[in-house]
Amino acid sequence: MNEKQIKETLSQIKDPVNGQSIVNTPHLQKLEIGDNEVNIVLAYNNLDPDIKNKLNFTILEALYEIIPEANVNIHFENQAPKPENPYPHIKNIIAVASGKGGVGKSTVAANLAVGLQKKGHSVGLLDADLYGPSIPTMFGLKNKRPRVKEIHGRQLLVPLTAYDIPLMSIGFILDPEQAVVLRGPRLSGVIKQFLNDVLWPELDYLIIDLPPSTGDIQLTMVQTAPITGAVIVTTPQAVAVDDAIKASNMFRLESIDVPIIGVVENMAWFSPIELPENKYYLFGNGGGQKLAAYLEVPLLGQLPLIASVGELADEGKPAWQAEDKILSSYLDNIIERTVYYTQLRNKQSDPTRIVKIKS
Ligand SMILES: Nc1ncnc2c1ncn2[C@@H]1O[C@H](COP(=O)(O)OP(=O)(O)OP(=O)(O)O)[C@@H](O)[C@H]1O
Ligand SMILES: [Mg+2]
Repeated sequence: MNEKQIKETLSQIKDPVNGQSIVNTPHLQKLEIGDNEVNIVLAYNNLDPDIKNKLNFTILEALYEIIPEANVNIHFENQAPKPENPYPHIKNIIAVASGKGGVGKSTVAANLAVGLQKKGHSVGLLDADLYGPSIPTMFGLKNKRPRVKEIHGRQLLVPLTAYDIPLMSIGFILDPEQAVVLRGPRLSGVIKQFLNDVLWPELDYLIIDLPPSTGDIQLTMVQTAPITGAVIVTTPQAVAVDDAIKASNMFRLESIDVPIIGVVENMAWFSPIELPENKYYLFGNGGGQKLAAYLEVPLLGQLPLIASVGELADEGKPAWQAEDKILSSYLDNIIERTVYYTQLRNKQSDPTRIVKIKS
């Protein structure tokens, strides 16, 4: 059966409660189109029986017009609809966070995105650091501007792409001087737009590069999108670990409840190129492990301090692009474990709910 035609026909029918099209209303809980069968589940809290019968009849009649042979089942549930997911085309939203600044969130976020993409996942990268966006530089897209596309009267931003990864950053829209003056509602507005008014394609992973610490951006993020989980980045330094605990505690607040997928320890040690076996623990040793143990989450991996990581980033190439065997083995490990623990999280717990502001 022609799925597109069926959806188009149904989209002409209005939800009697909110006036939205019946295919886009949150009351639609299920629309299954099989070989010769259409199953529809609608959930309403105490819908007037006359209105319900009329809606039932309208749907049956409309579908009979185009698929008279098909078996159409419409089931009404008498309950409030389950929370809607405004981003059904994005399977996992992973926020990369830290307490302290400069520990390597953007480096980890960019390399996670590139590495996941190389492994065949579809990935997008959202730079949510409105004060210090790094993604344009790291992907060699400085001074580039996204196109605007009008769809059903809405102006939507088309992400820029590098290494087949759709990317969005405030750096593509505003000059750095303009971005620093964003405050409160305007700041939240930009974050919301980055999720709602950007043409993100179907994605297995949307990686979000957050600014350090906890603040308006993190709060807006959890109020806008169901974050599948957070990856916490730290260096081995005690101050970085302490701040990472504070940042993690925000995600774990009962009212926020975003699971932590694991910890990445960056700048774990330094090995000179001429002596790759020698490890110098410049910032102390074991901070990532300690943090992971404290939070009772896995240590996803360690990334040593490697001069080329920083140099490549400045040239617009995430380190993954360098064919450095040692470096890619560390990154590989982090990526595999991130995928594994994200899948495990999805098996073990319910999807994250968008945080509702209590007033
Ligand atoms: N493993 C590494 N080896 C060498 N240089 C690194 C490594 N990780 C990060 N860097 C460099 O350290 C600097 C800070 O990293 P990055 O920008 O990723 O941190 P951040 O946590 O996103 O910072 P901010 O809090 O400012 O957003 C960058 O210049 C980056 O290239
Ligand atoms: Mg950053």
